Amino acid sequence: MKLKVLVVAGDGIGPEVTLEAVRVLKSVAEFGGHEFHFSEMPIGGVAIRQEGTPLPAATLDAAINSDAVLLGAVGGNEFNSLPPGRRPEAGLLQLRQALKGFANLRPAKAYPELASNSPLRAEVTRDVDILFVRELLGGLYFGEPRCWDRDGGAAWNTMRYTREEVARVAHIAFELAGQRRKKVTSVDKANVLEVSQLWRATVTEVAQQYPGIALEHQYVDACAMHLMNTPRNFDVVLAENLFGDILSDEAAVITGSLGMLPSATIGGTVNLYEPVHGSAPDIAGKGIANPLGAILTGAMLLRHSAGLEQDAQAVELAVARVLEQGYCTADLATTNGVGRRVSTQEMGKLVQQSLNEILDRRQALHAV
Ligand code: IPM
Ligand code: MN
Repeated sequence: MKLKVLVVAGDGIGPEVTLEAVRVLKSVAEFGGHEFHFSEMPIGGVAIRQEGTPLPAATLDAAINSDAVLLGAVGGNEFNSLPPGRRPEAGLLQLRQALKGFANLRPAKAYPELASNSPLRAEVTRDVDILFVRELLGGLYFGEPRCWDRDGGAAWNTMRYTREEVARVAHIAFELAGQRRKKVTSVDKANVLEVSQLWRATVTEVAQQYPGIALEHQYVDACAMHLMNTPRNFDVVLAENLFGDILSDEAAVITGSLGMLPSATIGGTVNLYEPVHGSAPDIAGKGIANPLGAILTGAMLLRHSAGLEQDAQAVELAVARVLEQGYCTADLATTNGVGRRVSTQEMGKLVQQSLNEILDRRQALHAV
């Protein structure tokens, strides 16, 4: 199989972790005889520094003409005083809009080896496996009007959704729930917001087409609490853009580190893959960032853009194995103090080694 991947590594730890993800993808391609072509373009803060804009036209062009886009992270402290529209984050938001993917899938899985890394008790996080489906193109992020009227001393953003926007992402959530534990928790604030009432009514209507899937509605504030109290009760969590952004960071507490969480954005013309974590400028360039979120993001790319489900699972298994062997990056080693601490690059290598073993064994099995 052939795949053209645009790598937009971006800022901070973006390049370090993305490099490890690309190495893993290259291993998979080499092993399976696939042709993956990688090209790199600037986005975010690096693009602002080089070209004065967070999403240069050439980057956008290359993204639209690729089969998949792999992003690292964007953002940096030096841009904090810029208005939202000129910050590194604006480049990412423009890219998301251009690629048209509206469903951002964010799996949050608790690995047993990382249980002591979470401030939650091990019996609370055990076996947690949640898939957040975050609407990515609507809500407060993109709603108009938006403005900071400095003279008037007021500012506003608009949370706007149409029925169609809610329905299409709801369909994705129900379909994915059908492949899992058959439950969707839809998140809103329907006791206060009209837009949430439309959300709830639309999701309820879509649910009728999926009689095998249980649907529950939760207010976002209650959901935030239940996620910490009883995370095992969740299967698929469907949320609008900002609620999904907030809840998926919260879910990192269950997994032990934000550095573990991958994401894939589907439903548009080109799928976009990005770890959930940010650019972490405080640890950038030190070789201590956790590349597992980026590597697991690579697995999602194999699943959703290359149709290589078995290879995606092999990468996920390789990550689990390396954790079983007790290896951890700085973010994972901090709370329990145990484990064999390794650098970003070493962690990437360990996953590759483990992946090679898994692929070798798979091939040997097939040869019998
Ligand atoms: C995320 C990030 C982005 C978002 C930022 C960097 C624009 O926090 O992917 O979760 O808010 O969507
Ligand atoms: Mn976020």
